[in-house]
Amino acid sequence: MLDIVVCVSGGGTNLQAIIDRIKAGEIRDVRIAAVISNNYGVKALERAADAGIEAKVVSPKDFENRALFNEALLETVKAFKPGLVVLAGFLVNIPEAFVREYKGRIINIHPSLIPSFCGVGYYGLKVHKAVLERGVKVTGATAHFVDEGTDTGPIILQKAVNVMDGDTPEVLQRRVMEQAEWEILPKAISLFAQGKLEIKDGKVLINE
Ligand code: GAR
Repeated sequence: MLDIVVCVSGGGTNLQAIIDRIKAGEIRDVRIAAVISNNYGVKALERAADAGIEAKVVSPKDFENRALFNEALLETVKAFKPGLVVLAGFLVNIPEAFVREYKGRIINIHPSLIPSFCGVGYYGLKVHKAVLERGVKVTGATAHFVDEGTDTGPIILQKAVNVMDGDTPEVLQRRVMEQAEWEILPKAISLFAQGKLEIKDGKVLINE
């Protein structure tokens, strides 16, 4: 059984997708040990409570400085002894010590086809706004391992999604979630849990 910690910041629809796939038996041998949010009062926390999953808030507002927050975040995660940490809409810069501790064991979902529309400043709706401003016809999502950079880690899975005339950032965000994120994030977790992912030369091999 693989214990995972899921880190969230807001709506938690990706968290919900993971909960639902575990329930449906589509992700096997995985248990969500805890959900950790950097924000109070978000929908993701309700989703955790509804599923009977322990949830904790580690908010930067409760700490004097970023270093203390970073330390508390890592200690909170470590207390659950996860084999994998999943960033499911976790809009926090992952501190270096965190990456070091969980190297090759942190998976993030990003709402674009990396290396497009990623890096510092590209998160949440901002990604979809930038996509629409540039006028690309295809976007998508990427599940990837986290390294020390921003959205630079080895890519596990990607899925393309069409941009349509008249899309707003909100409409496009929803389509990317429905058609890509909620599919590839649970799939990436499942592949990890089954020991099918191997990182070689900065790339991910899927040993099906
Ligand atoms: C998702 O679209 C996720 O890909 C994005 O935030 C949203 C969270 O939604 N993450 C990033 O932008 C990370 N750089 P959710 O809380 O409903 O899962």
